[in-house]
Amino acid sequence: MLITGASSGIGAATARAVAAQGAHVLLVARRAAALLELAAEIGDDGGLASVYPCDLTDFDAIDELVAQVLDDHGAVDYLVNNAGRSIRRSLHLSYDRFHDVERTMAVNYFGPVRLTMGLLPAMREQGFGHVVSIVTWGVQMRAPKFSAYIASKSALDQWVRIAAREARGDGVTFTSMRFGLVRTPMVAPTEEYEGRRAMSPEDAARAVVRCLEERPPVWNIPAGVVGEVVNFLSPRLGDYLMYRYDQMAPDSRAARGG
Ligand SMILES: NC(=O)c1ccc[n+]([C@@H]2O[C@H](COP(=O)([O-])OP(=O)(O)OC[C@H]3O[C@@H](n4cnc5c(N)ncnc54)[C@H](OP(=O)(O)O)[C@@H]3O)[C@@H](O)[C@H]2O)c1
Repeated sequence: MLITGASSGIGAATARAVAAQGAHVLLVARRAAALLELAAEIGDDGGLASVYPCDLTDFDAIDELVAQVLDDHGAVDYLVNNAGRSIRRSLHLSYDRFHDVERTMAVNYFGPVRLTMGLLPAMREQGFGHVVSIVTWGVQMRAPKFSAYIASKSALDQWVRIAAREARGDGVTFTSMRFGLVRTPMVAPTEEYEGRRAMSPEDAARAVVRCLEERPPVWNIPAGVVGEVVNFLSPRLGDYLMYRYDQMAPDSRAARGG
């Protein structure tokens, strides 16, 4: 099983959880030292983990990763597209920051699509594979201040849903997981989230494991479904509610450049 973004948060917790269930877990992220530390911890607990450092914004590096993984293991049975980057910043603070759009697309969309396309042929050939992609309830809520981030996650959400329709005949399935707030280093810079109810990385990992076992097309939190229904039934009401919410929730110091 290959997990991207395994050096931290949901990815690291998922790696521990699947290794405890006997999977040989391939750990991918940029920070090699953190991956080696996690692999050693998994090894000490009786599990098996291998480390493949890779920057998922670098297409050549992804192609090398795919070649190495296929050479070492043949096919990958399970892929968890978890690595990601979130940006929460209002549009009016973003006019001269087009790189926010480029950076989120690079790691949240182009990277996982390139990796999945590299690993998919071997999965289809062996007649089995499951791909879990960690997206966000934002694809249903369309929350203000997250235009770059949510658009990149929505692109991945759509891409895997369509890939699922093409690959199901070959035994390959896909799950999009639309997580709400999870208490990880990603959300630490946002003061707005302090004290908010959030999942722990361990609970998030348990949900990922369930999706690896049960292979549902999508996994939602209830609030995401409510948001999706409101946005579908009454887009005007959805826009109004989110407009009011946007006014009440200021940009973080980090987003303002503090
Ligand atoms: N936390 C939440 O509330 C929340 C909610 C919904 C969805 N999500 C999604 O959940 C996923 C995991 O996030 P998290 O909350 O666990 O955050 P996190 O602790 O910050 O972990 C992010 C992971 O992505 C990796 N990563 C980032 N850029 C990379 C790159 N260019 N190449 C390779 N790896 C890269 C990081 O590793 P390196 O720095 O070592 O490369 C790290 O392991 C993300 O896709 C995020 O969008 C999170």
